[in-house]
Amino acid sequence: RRRDDLAGVRVLVTAGGTREPIDPVRFLGNRSSGKMGFALAAAAAARGAEVQLVAAPTSLTTPPGVIRTDVTTALDMHAAVFDRVADVDVVVKAAAVADFRPVTAAGSKLKKSAGAPRLELVPNPDILADLGERRRGGHAQPLLVGFAAETDDVEAYGRDKLARKNADLLVVNDVGASDAGFGVDTNRVVILGRDGARTEVGLATKRAVAERILDAVVDLLPAGPAS
Ligand code: PMT
Repeated sequence: RRRDDLAGVRVLVTAGGTREPIDPVRFLGNRSSGKMGFALAAAAAARGAEVQLVAAPTSLTTPPGVIRTDVTTALDMHAAVFDRVADVDVVVKAAAVADFRPVTAAGSKLKKSAGAPRLELVPNPDILADLGERRRGGHAQPLLVGFAAETDDVEAYGRDKLARKNADLLVVNDVGASDAGFGVDTNRVVILGRDGARTEVGLATKRAVAERILDAVVDLLPAGPAS
């Protein structure tokens, strides 16, 4: 069923953790390695999709057949996604996007001798929520797949994010577990859909989890799953 079931489908994946500069050498970041997003990009390309990957800093190599754009900050990622959104059928937001950034980045390296700096933070735009809003504005496409990285009440928060961000699917991972979520090669997720749909994916490689997420995407595509 999977071979070529995404042929001709244009998929945009975001991956990795954004970096929000404090000064030329320091940033606020998170522990995302990009592995989950890169696995999704690789799996989608292998199933025939035209894949664009918007990647925050990572040491991973670009999967075969994938067009990659590198970005650093949440604002860069927002711009890269919105530049491409009119030309894609599916957006998968596996990136861990910083919710806040320092209000200004110092132009030169902060000196220790100047004492502990006070970091004033301002909110970043929420890329997934803005994509959801854009759809409320009358754009039927693209299909939106969000993630939720939670440590408590994972499904309740996931359901809330699915509705609030107007996504079609929300992939919840319990990032409190040592064999799932950030950094590791495996994950354990629940894929939430609208109207209470729910698919549990037990511990598996991120590639195998990616395939299951794409199965759920194929089921929602206008043409439906290929037989
Ligand atoms: O990269 P790995 O090391 O393989 O780890 C994978 C992962 C744990 C990072 C991944 O599976 C994952 O859960 N990614 C989403 C992490 C996250 O930021 O979750 P969140 O609950 O903070 O955000 C919810 C959703 O909104 C996400 O789809 C996120 O991309 C999106 N978001 C969040 C904030 C923001 N400013 N803009 C967004 O688009």
